[in-house]
Amino acid sequence: MWAGRVLRAAPSAAPRGRRALSALTQLRGVLEEELDAIRGAGTWKSERVITSRQGPRIHVDGVSGGILNFCANNYLGLSSHPEVIQAGLQALEEFGAGLSSTRFICGTQSIHKDLEAKIARFHQREDAILYPSCFDANAGLFEALLSPQDAVLSDELNHASIIDGIRLCKAHKYRYRHLDMADLEAKLQEAQNHRLRLVATDGAFSMDGDIAPLQEICHLASRYGALVFVDECHATGFLGATGRGTDELLGVMDQVTIINSTLGKALGGASGGYTTGPGPLVSLLRQRARPYLFSNSLPPAVVGCASKALDLLMESNAIVQSMAAKTKRFRSKMEAAGFTVLGASHPICPVMLGDARLASCMADDMLKRGIFVIGFSYPVVPKNKARIRVQISAVHSEEDIDRCVEAFVEKEADATQGGRKEPGRRACHPREIRHRAGGGQCLLRRECPSLARQKRCLKGEEGELGGRAAPAGRRLGAAPEPRGSPSLAGSPRTKQGPAPRVEVGAAHPELRGRVGLLHAGGWGRRYYLFSLLPSRPPPHPTMPSICLTNPEIPGMQGDPQVVADLGRGVEQV
Ligand SMILES: Cc1ncc(COP(=O)(O)O)c(C=O)c1O
Repeated sequence: MWAGRVLRAAPSAAPRGRRALSALTQLRGVLEEELDAIRGAGTWKSERVITSRQGPRIHVDGVSGGILNFCANNYLGLSSHPEVIQAGLQALEEFGAGLSSTRFICGTQSIHKDLEAKIARFHQREDAILYPSCFDANAGLFEALLSPQDAVLSDELNHASIIDGIRLCKAHKYRYRHLDMADLEAKLQEAQNHRLRLVATDGAFSMDGDIAPLQEICHLASRYGALVFVDECHATGFLGATGRGTDELLGVMDQVTIINSTLGKALGGASGGYTTGPGPLVSLLRQRARPYLFSNSLPPAVVGCASKALDLLMESNAIVQSMAAKTKRFRSKMEAAGFTVLGASHPICPVMLGDARLASCMADDMLKRGIFVIGFSYPVVPKNKARIRVQISAVHSEEDIDRCVEAFVEKEADATQGGRKEPGRRACHPREIRHRAGGGQCLLRRECPSLARQKRCLKGEEGELGGRAAPAGRRLGAAPEPRGSPSLAGSPRTKQGPAPRVEVGAAHPELRGRVGLLHAGGWGRRYYLFSLLPSRPPPHPTMPSICLTNPEIPGMQGDPQVVADLGRGVEQV
């Protein structure tokens, strides 16, 4: 019996080994292709490595000297507050490194219960439940609370964790337009037949620093018998007169039913999240919320830090007021200097630039001036809405704020003068970028001409140029070179002369009206969509005409394989 099994297994052993090897090789191929697509699309996210504590002044690996930090969610500066650190050390000493257990098995300490009670008190709610993160709190809530009989109505720009949490539940899903109360009302009317209706919104939206109109939302909710859920990650601790959040700011603390928030931003910045609201809801979450039931307890040091952060906030208003005053200073100085800063009074200050490359280059230049800020562009924010997001903290000094404003002003002046202040570097000015792009063509390249970064696609370039048609009547294959060709220095196009182009009359129907980087399936080749020409009569009513270029493949022009490849699939558009 035993021998028989071995004999039967033996013949297939070698092929299984080979299969495993080829599966790994295949996996590597798939992963490389995915990674390449991300790089090619210009959405690659890299991490700057901080070699100091989080705070207003940090040290960044590879950058000499101290850096003024304007991109952390450390709104109240409590991440490195001495009392917060001391409380963390004390909890570590007294309660150990961690629980090696989930809460309901063997992972609840007195400090977890104390912190939950403190959170509920802070928000003036009946009870609270801790999670390893607010992402988990959002992942746990909707599935535990809502059934197929219920409905959830969600702002279209809600945080990814709310979207994912809602995906996990079986309730009927309605998405209303961002902050659009008429649309919310229409969706509430549609949802009237459901058992429960839950309106879900961020309190403050992190990309624009805009604030949900909670008064109107609560009014509609009461009119249509709905509950209100607010994610307060970018509000807890600092919005409202005593930092309770958006509901305090807008005077609706008694009308918002459920709040989820984080300990990982203003409240010490370590990690952790929570839900606070009606007692029976919290009890249900302890029975049903999967991230609570199946993930480890918060480490005591984290609990100690967050608990002290709440103590500090409940003792005094001074930190909150300091942050508000500095936010006001930054916003008013930037506006006086001619910049557009979105939002009203939130410490998230999006400095609007529009142009994706300008935002990316400007953020890099600011770092060279000792200011750490991040540029955001499509697809993180809508097309043509690229910005640099500046985040103010209570621990920035007034001089820090002024220095940040000065750096923006200097950079702007520099860019307008064509970068003459810094020999050897090109300015990133919108006019120049438009000029380089050939006024309306959809141009994708793999290098940043301004900074000559090899193999790095321009961040969000498709966003700012995408969808613009080439002028009517332009002949395929005869599109003019982008003006300002010096910007192509170093790219294969200048080495080989004008890029070959090919007219392709048949393309994947999904291409219509969109631009992007194409991967032609099965050929390991990458084609660059150069322009869409919807104004030209297509060869067939369902097929747009497109013009392709691939500077890396000499003689691609007329390659019939291009046509075949395109028919096989477009992996990314
Ligand atoms: C609005 C919002 N909700 C939830 C989260 C997730 O919070 P945490 O970092 O605690 O998982 C974030 C974090 O970026 C956020 O901004």
